[in-house]
Amino acid sequence: MTDSQILDTNTPQFLEVIQDLHSQYKSLQEGTVANYIPELAKVNPNLFSICIATIDGQIFEVGDYQQLFTIQSISKVFVYGQALEDHGRDYVLTRVGVEPTGDAFNAIVLDEKSKRPYNPMVNAGAIATTSLIKGNGATEKLNRLLDMYKRYIGRDVFVDIAVFTSERSTGHRNRATAHLMLNFGMIDQNIEEALDLYFQQCSVLVNCKDLAVMAATLANKGVNPMTQEKAVDSKYIKDILSVMYTCGMYNFAGEWAYKVGIPAKSGVCGGIIAVVPGKMGIGVFSPLLDTRANSVRGVKVCEELSQRLGLHLFECGNYS
Ligand code: DON
Repeated sequence: MTDSQILDTNTPQFLEVIQDLHSQYKSLQEGTVANYIPELAKVNPNLFSICIATIDGQIFEVGDYQQLFTIQSISKVFVYGQALEDHGRDYVLTRVGVEPTGDAFNAIVLDEKSKRPYNPMVNAGAIATTSLIKGNGATEKLNRLLDMYKRYIGRDVFVDIAVFTSERSTGHRNRATAHLMLNFGMIDQNIEEALDLYFQQCSVLVNCKDLAVMAATLANKGVNPMTQEKAVDSKYIKDILSVMYTCGMYNFAGEWAYKVGIPAKSGVCGGIIAVVPGKMGIGVFSPLLDTRANSVRGVKVCEELSQRLGLHLFECGNYS
């Protein structure tokens, strides 16, 4: 495919390419489904879908693209955007850094000097950004996050109560992380409320098409390309995409940046979003995970999609 074809989002080749990748990888059975949240272990490991949403409102989808699953850590991207809108960049930077950790997503670790969590894409940083969401009490805060999701997706979303309660009753590691941050004054006293909101934001149900549209909204300066609604202030897009690029794939972020070369975020549900700024959003869903908690098929699909469509940000021809 040539550079001019990449820029022409009318090309039907997007559909052919994702259909091809879907049939190429659907028999790949490597990895395991997340089971540290008991309710997530019930997922059908064979589910697999790929979607592309372009910034001019076209959707290309293949596989189980209507299947609902919980968004999990992909939520961290959007809640970070909401925290930036609620408090501004300078204040948010006092509570969470922008440095990759090289550690697992759930590492109980803070920056030694500043005592901040390293970045908003790992659990510690995400719990800190969630604790910044404004609202008069737990219900108003949750409703503000549900409204936020609605702007990105274009429809009402709901929390999967079984996943939420499963995570709340087993999330001792996250609770320990929150206590550590409370000890250093990085989050306020009400840690159970912050944790509940964090578990709820992770338990919102989406499908693969939703992921692609959410990613396309980030690619489109914060405006949902299907509804034209502004989901997030465009001035925060560079903050969001920068931390996705450097930290979104956890201790695989460097290799991802090198090989795939576009901002992305994964979740233990098996979802991945990837953003091609000014062009499109990609969503992939396949629950079998590698040891870094990234979807095995999702990583393969994105690596190959990047290669075939020439998506790497530093690919000569993607800039002048
Ligand atoms: O904190 C947790 O364990 C989950 N709610 C989210 C973790 C997650 O998705 C990590 N991603 N790969």
